[in-house]
Amino acid sequence: MLFTEREKLQEDVELWLKDLGRDRGALLPVLQKIDRKHGHISDYSMQLVAEQLNIFPSEVYSVVSFFRFLYREPHGKFIVRLCRTISCDLAGKDKVAHQLQTELGIMFGETTDDNMFTLEWTNCTGMCDQGPAMLVNDHVITKVTPERIKEILDLCKDTIDGC
Ligand code: FES
Repeated sequence: MLFTEREKLQEDVELWLKDLGRDRGALLPVLQKIDRKHGHISDYSMQLVAEQLNIFPSEVYSVVSFFRFLYREPHGKFIVRLCRTISCDLAGKDKVAHQLQTELGIMFGETTDDNMFTLEWTNCTGMCDQGPAMLVNDHVITKVTPERIKEILDLCKDTIDGC
């Protein structure tokens, strides 16, 4: 991580903690903010958060490694998660998965070269009666068809700050 990136990260964390407070309750929200803005949670980020909250780095690490939605490695700006659980499977998730891979040119578990999209599987999101369901970052999209994939991805590209 470049020095200026570290400075920016430190500035962001200090600013966020002014709102969140400096106790353990701030740990998860500040990690989510780091992940979202900086694209992942680096070792340096974990050290910084530990220092700022006056807790052990191992405590920060355990939270980051426990939550699947927190990333230690860089990921795309948009994380597309397609449900692979039974109701969505029966509703046609395989065709949607194939179309996602075709449109993005990547396989599940990969990130596009321009760092725009990461494609992942997820388990049931609770939208079983409206499958196939997927998440794009925090947004739930239901009744997804292969025909809708291009439109959904284009919408993401058009709204760089989140779709
Ligand atoms: S099985 Fe896909 S949302 Fe529940």
